[in-house]
Amino acid sequence: MRLVNCAVYLISCLYFGHAKAESGNSSNGNVLPVVLWHGMGDTCCFPFSLGSIKKLIMEQTNVSYVRSLEIGANIVLDYESGFFIHPNKQVDYVCKQLAQDEQLSNGYNAIGFSQGAQFLRAVAQRCPVPRMRTLISLGGQHQGVFGLPKCPTLSVSSCEHITRLLNYAAYEKWVQNDLVQATYWHDPLDESSYRLKSSFLADINNELYVNERYAENLNKLTRFVMVKFLNDTIVQPKETQWFEFYAPGQDKTILPLNQSKVFNNLGLELMNLRGKLQFLSIEGDHLAIPKEWFVKHLVPLLLESD
Ligand SMILES: *[C@@H]1O[C@H](CO)[C@@H](O)[C@H](O)[C@H]1NC(C)=O
Ligand SMILES: *[C@@H]1O[C@H](CO)[C@@H](O)[C@H](O)[C@H]1NC(C)=O
Ligand SMILES: *[C@@H]1O[C@H](CO)[C@@H](O)[C@H](O)[C@H]1NC(C)=O
Ligand SMILES: *[C@@H]1O[C@H](CO)[C@@H](O)[C@H](O)[C@H]1NC(C)=O
Repeated sequence: MRLVNCAVYLISCLYFGHAKAESGNSSNGNVLPVVLWHGMGDTCCFPFSLGSIKKLIMEQTNVSYVRSLEIGANIVLDYESGFFIHPNKQVDYVCKQLAQDEQLSNGYNAIGFSQGAQFLRAVAQRCPVPRMRTLISLGGQHQGVFGLPKCPTLSVSSCEHITRLLNYAAYEKWVQNDLVQATYWHDPLDESSYRLKSSFLADINNELYVNERYAENLNKLTRFVMVKFLNDTIVQPKETQWFEFYAPGQDKTILPLNQSKVFNNLGLELMNLRGKLQFLSIEGDHLAIPKEWFVKHLVPLLLESD
């Protein structure tokens, strides 16, 4: 069941109906726990958003532990973090949380929603312990965005304010420090500013210099699954969800992934050779995931074990 028009249009506007509470003892010892990271304009735990995904995963896999990351001490901070806490800080925070979580010590699978997907990729690259087995990216922006047509859950005026900042000052230091979306703003007409000044994405994509450790750690994944929403009205360009982006110097033509620098610099080429990259697509808008699709395509990935 899909309900695109939730009362509040969240970036992860998902509704899977009421999941039945699991009563009996059916925990499934072989299935790895799952870690979720929400998108911008969302939080860890709204029942109509990640709360319902968590229930669905538990129902479908019998896994006993699904952790939906809350950034900060409460849901308000968690919501604000999606706009105002620098991704490097968020990733550090999450790495510590995961390392301290005994239930994850044998490894986990991870699902990132929208910007949460590139943040989880940064976790995989920077913090290989505990081990992330499979990373599922739902509408992630792996080569950044150039344009922000809509801002979920923000008022029109706040969204316009953010968009203006991104258009005119994304690479100013104070904007990079204070606005999360600026850290993955990728201006194809000004690649050198992006490489030099993007304070998050250029680093995790090995744009300025190649950090071999990032490529090695990413290769520790068993699978890196990228899901693209074919009719996405929020992420621009849509192809960034499959790690592609505009060819430098213009904003019309997309460069195939295997011709882009990051393919080699981040070890994606090797992952591809090893069959670790998986590209899936869904017809529909950003994060509008039909329950049946989730069960058919993603649940089997969560049931895999080494
Ligand atoms: C399930 O049952 C087993 C065996 O009776 C027990 O060891 C385990 O703790 C139970 N798990 C849960 C989640 O109740
Ligand atoms: C989950 O548990 C239920 C009830 O015990 C069982 O019918 C189902 O097959 C289990 N599913 C998986 C994927 O293990
Ligand atoms: C979604 O996009 C795909 C690919 O561009 C297109 O074939 C399809 O008609 C679109 N669907 C809707 C509902 O707009
Ligand atoms: C790049 O990928 C495309 C499919 O997207 C494929 O047709 C082409 O052969 C690949 N090129 C190289 C050099 O691997």
